[in-house]
Amino acid sequence: MKMINSSIIAIKFLMLVTLAKICVSQDFDFFYFVQQWPGSSCDTKQGCCFPQTGRPASNFTIHGLWPNYNHGSFPSNCKSVENAFEESKMSDIIPRAEASWAALSCPSKKKTNSTNSDNMKLWKHEWEKHGTCSYSVLDQHAYFDFTLNLKDHIDLLQILLNKGIKPDGDKYSVEKIREAIKEATGFEAGIRCNTDASGNSQLNEIVLCVDKSAASESFIECPILPDANCPEDVEFPIFGVSQFIDTA
Ligand SMILES: *[C@@H]1O[C@H](CO)[C@@H](O)[C@H](O)[C@H]1NC(C)=O
Ligand SMILES: *[C@@H]1O[C@H](CO)[C@@H](O)[C@H](O)[C@H]1NC(C)=O
Repeated sequence: MKMINSSIIAIKFLMLVTLAKICVSQDFDFFYFVQQWPGSSCDTKQGCCFPQTGRPASNFTIHGLWPNYNHGSFPSNCKSVENAFEESKMSDIIPRAEASWAALSCPSKKKTNSTNSDNMKLWKHEWEKHGTCSYSVLDQHAYFDFTLNLKDHIDLLQILLNKGIKPDGDKYSVEKIREAIKEATGFEAGIRCNTDASGNSQLNEIVLCVDKSAASESFIECPILPDANCPEDVEFPIFGVSQFIDTA
């Protein structure tokens, strides 16, 4: 009797361990590294707000680093006790994140009287929704550090400027944008569009893929490109200073 009991307990224990493993190891296949053009958030019907640190530079900013599956869907909100977001782990990251990973969505008027976007809230959201699902590869500090390094490896704005594609409010061919990025990086990018307040399609986000091992500079060909929804030609809206506009 005693032996049967203990083997049942052993089996139950093994089942629990297996179950725990399934729940913890949130596997994924690759990352989407998503950068956005701030001008394309600010000229929408919703508009945008700036962080307390002020208007972000006229440059692409990071939206996020998102674990994804090869078949297209993605894991999200893999929150657990051990990967809870900690503001204290951001302290040495903040200066770089403020410069390259700015929040642009306006705060809800009911909850606060502020008109500023909230960077920390964005970073917490990105960590909780996406970062927690690649926790097996990158802990919180490594996740933000790695993502910021990715941005510095590929200067998207310069890549486009080199091909005469400028944030000057003109329209550009999506194919040309794709070609410019392919030529400079070697990889096909996902180009995502949205519409401004008057309904014009515009360049909103540029997506590159990154190897799931998160080794440095490990951009890869995307196993699956994200949804595009761009027409042939799209506007590249002005944002901030107009240094990119020809005055001639
Ligand atoms: C917002 O401002 C109003 C009026 O000045 C004030 O009564 C209220 O307490 C403020 N709310 C918050 C969340 O600060
Ligand atoms: C835009 O961002 C890239 C990557 O972080 C940086 O190297 C570049 O200097 C920035 N360009 C401008 C015009 O701010």
